Amino acid sequence: MDTEHSFSSLNRSLFGDDFAWGVSTAALQIEGSCDVDGKSASIWDTFSLKRGKILNGDKPTHACDFYKEYQRDIDLVKQLNIPNFRFSIAWSRILPNGTGEVNQVGVAHYNQVIDYCLQQGIEPWVTIYHWDLPQILEDNGGWTNRKIVNWFSNFVTVCAQNFGDRVRHWMVMNEPAVFTGAGYFLGIHAPGRTGLRNFLPAIHHVVLSIVAGAKILRELCPDAQIGNTFSCSYIEPYADKPRHIAAAKRADALINRLYIEPLLGLGYPTDEVKALKGINKYILPGDEANMSFDFDFIGVQNYTREIVKYSFFTPYIGASLVKAQDRGVELTEMKWEVYPPCIYEMIKKFNAYPQIKKLIITENGAAFPDVVFNNEVDDQRRVTYLQTHLQQVLKAKQEGYNVEGYFVWTLTDNFEWAEGYHPRFGLVYIDFETQHRIIKNSGRWFAQFLG
Ligand code: NOJ
Repeated sequence: MDTEHSFSSLNRSLFGDDFAWGVSTAALQIEGSCDVDGKSASIWDTFSLKRGKILNGDKPTHACDFYKEYQRDIDLVKQLNIPNFRFSIAWSRILPNGTGEVNQVGVAHYNQVIDYCLQQGIEPWVTIYHWDLPQILEDNGGWTNRKIVNWFSNFVTVCAQNFGDRVRHWMVMNEPAVFTGAGYFLGIHAPGRTGLRNFLPAIHHVVLSIVAGAKILRELCPDAQIGNTFSCSYIEPYADKPRHIAAAKRADALINRLYIEPLLGLGYPTDEVKALKGINKYILPGDEANMSFDFDFIGVQNYTREIVKYSFFTPYIGASLVKAQDRGVELTEMKWEVYPPCIYEMIKKFNAYPQIKKLIITENGAAFPDVVFNNEVDDQRRVTYLQTHLQQVLKAKQEGYNVEGYFVWTLTDNFEWAEGYHPRFGLVYIDFETQHRIIKNSGRWFAQFLG
């Protein structure tokens, strides 16, 4: 092991005083209270009622009870010495009809969360949209309906007007490639739609909405930092053969380039994936000017790497992932490979875009099978995961790459979308029956590291 970056010498000061340390969460995954105080259903509330969609039939109905007991968990953020807390706003809580009339009770809730963070000396980082579209909007076409650009603009305006006096860091949307890919192409996430005829219009409307939202935030919150977060995986070809190398490039276009490139003004990566040319049908005159934005920061979210091989049978992309469980590598509960250099490679890859002013790792973390013993959780594998990934972040930073923050996913175990409550990603363990919390050893380590 490279002794210069050995764990014992891994200390916060090496990252510099301005480095942003935080922890990330999302409304649907933690809040619970899905139908109280005027909140309407989101697509995840309805999707989770359908048989077979969520592992073990789990539902987000209670989750971590954050809506009612937000102080308890913000107190934990403080106890863990974490200076920045990222959370998202549930659209259907503040605009139960999707647009129009504002639900003041919902607005009051987020005001309380923001104020409580600030009182504790914790900086709120707010994601406007983390996948929980109001069902009523999905009933009207959701992301496939171009009107959503206006619906979303309305939502962003309400957020900016009500919270913009105190929130200094905004992320417009979280991981667009995942919620459109899994939700509108593969059908494995809400709203469960499939096929290119849903996926392609959704992509373009999401891009237009991100830009419209970012412009509203810039206008209404001129002193705030405006960003967006992107999922990414380090992709390597299965073998050094032209057909696998070409397949890896196509997968890279879909997994890593699909959103960041248009948003930086580089257009959709149609060079690699011809099927994406179908988006052209949805691009109307004048759209080009509204497809990119000069973000203050870009959030990169990385967990693993993927090995890609040529596949004749996979439509549109001619590539498939070689499952990590077939590769004899260390796996997390998500069956994702543990491969720390992936985060270094991703920092490098995003640094190749000169348009990015500031890069922040807005999510990294791992789910492992945690065991409670004597009211303690000795999650050494998670400690090692975080340390080895942080070492790679430090390596990138010391080599001069732009990387100015790191947020752990996530504070407490929570509702992991289609995987329900099974994968535990938290620094804090939750017994979902009793809502009892236990700070895991990883949480203790992070607290100590942040000092
Ligand atoms: C990405 C998403 O933003 C988050 O909601 C999810 O829980 C984590 N990654 C882990 O899968």
